Amino acid sequence: MPGLHIANGAEPTDSLPAFVFDIDGVFIRGEKLIPGARETIRLLQRRKDPFIFLTNGGGHTEQSRVEKLGQRLGLTLDVEQFVQSHTPYYDLVPEYGDKTVLVLGAQGDQIRDLAHKYGFKKVLTSSDIMAERPLIHPFPEMTKDHHEKYGHLQIITDLLLSRGGFIGTKSPKNGDTSLPNNGYQQDDQPKLFFCNPDFQWSTEYPDPRLAQGAALAALKGLWDEITGGKGDLLYSIIGKPTEPTYVYAEKVLQEYGKKLHPSLEIGTVYMIGDNPRSDIAGANDFESRCGYKWKSVLVETGIYVPGSVPAYQPDHTAKDVKEAVQWVLRKEKLANGAE
Ligand code: G3P
Ligand code: MG
Repeated sequence: MPGLHIANGAEPTDSLPAFVFDIDGVFIRGEKLIPGARETIRLLQRRKDPFIFLTNGGGHTEQSRVEKLGQRLGLTLDVEQFVQSHTPYYDLVPEYGDKTVLVLGAQGDQIRDLAHKYGFKKVLTSSDIMAERPLIHPFPEMTKDHHEKYGHLQIITDLLLSRGGFIGTKSPKNGDTSLPNNGYQQDDQPKLFFCNPDFQWSTEYPDPRLAQGAALAALKGLWDEITGGKGDLLYSIIGKPTEPTYVYAEKVLQEYGKKLHPSLEIGTVYMIGDNPRSDIAGANDFESRCGYKWKSVLVETGIYVPGSVPAYQPDHTAKDVKEAVQWVLRKEKLANGAE
């Protein structure tokens, strides 16, 4: 049993500290590993402290992402410790597994395979639509690759204005002021799901780069223009900082904790991240379903500019992930009455 859980007089305490780690800006920036990343994970593995990764990234299977991160760290990680922005979509399979879904956000076959692995059987990508309707994009002479990357906003708005999701149709309800939302998205159009609210993220480039939340902002702007400001864009969103993502992650963490220590319960969960609007806001607001205490620790290796006032105040700020974990371990040791 790890020493941390031994209270005064060597009696094991019945609660464990646990960690939820963001990835980009905490362990890596682009292709670069952040110093201290490997030894931090190695230390927690040796101590058998439960931890999971919770990233707003995605586009690959959990298995391939966890293997890639493991290779970079030179450590073996378990897929059961890994939650991406779209991992909670496993829960949508009972409802949408047999319905046609259009998946957007990564290269065609890669994202189709991913959706199939989740259990969605009828998966379309933007290239399928392009193949059927080459003129849907005004510049069909451009490459397929180009369309896959840049044609999404056109296809999304076409579908949201359609009748029942049939490409090439227009709902007569659009703009009907007698209907909710002035008739927009009231005619059995496909439901719109987003899975990463991050406006920016941290890469090797010195300044934060636009992330998927920026695409949502662009779509909202377009939709406002298209509907003359009369229709709200109706969609659902998951990913940090949303509550469903934290509920899902907590369940994954609980299961992982049980796997490591079947008879011990998690006490405090430390969310360690670089993005105040994502990692910190989500952890601060979250009301645990399992009776855990959630604390947030902001690191200075990503989005957050050291010395500035963070948009959401963390419980603690640390230089990097190594320092963050050391702070937690010291704090937990004190709480357990050890020297
Ligand atoms: O697209 C990924 C990015 O938005 C953030 O990833 O690991 O910092 O949640 P992460
Ligand atoms: Mg991050």
